[in-house]
Amino acid sequence: MRLLFFAGSAREGSHNKKLARLGQHIAEANGIEAVFADLADYHMPIYHGDLEDDEGVPERARAFKALLEEYDGVMIVTPEYNAAVPPLLKNTIDWLSRVKDEPDVFRARVFAISGASPGYYGAMRSLLVLRQILAVGLGATVIPQQMALPRASQAFEDDGSLKDESQQKTFAGVVEALAVAARKFTA
Ligand SMILES: Cc1cc2nc3c(=O)[nH]c(=O)nc-3n(C[C@H](O)[C@H](O)[C@H](O)COP(=O)(O)O)c2cc1C
Repeated sequence: MRLLFFAGSAREGSHNKKLARLGQHIAEANGIEAVFADLADYHMPIYHGDLEDDEGVPERARAFKALLEEYDGVMIVTPEYNAAVPPLLKNTIDWLSRVKDEPDVFRARVFAISGASPGYYGAMRSLLVLRQILAVGLGATVIPQQMALPRASQAFEDDGSLKDESQQKTFAGVVEALAVAARKFTA
């Protein structure tokens, strides 16, 4: 059983990348094979129907889908932009949904979602939207456990762990729940 972690931000100092990397490290510390993928390595143009008609799905969307297919469980850690998911994440998911080969990348594995924000709500509203996109839009199984990390600019230790013990425990619980669900899903 293998887990993939990625964030809906390509920014170098991204809080969400930090949280996704922490997820990867927590998984590894529990003996689970885990990888962090950076969307900065999978730049795709904004979805446009004419572009798809003329040039097909971008190679990087196919490559990212091929990467997802190697993992039984996927955690997406998303920022919140204007109370919703950022365009980078929506665009990535939109292109992935246009790769039509079987098996369906969203239905064939388990997802967990979490988010971080320097603000008060910890990307909570973005998580509602992401859950809708994945579960309602794409038929994905998304576990109920999630982490919304507020005040993210002050939340991390230098080693990437969370300063607040209860937050660290909550997030470790989300990672564990994803691992349990992914094991069941692939059994
Ligand atoms: C266009 C835009 C809209 C934003 N809207 C929200 C918002 O609705 N809620 C929020 O908590 N933060 C909002 N932010 C602030 C982001 O949470 C902040 O930039 C965060 O650091 C982005 O995530 P990252 O650190 O992973 O790149 C917004 C930022 C941008 C650029």
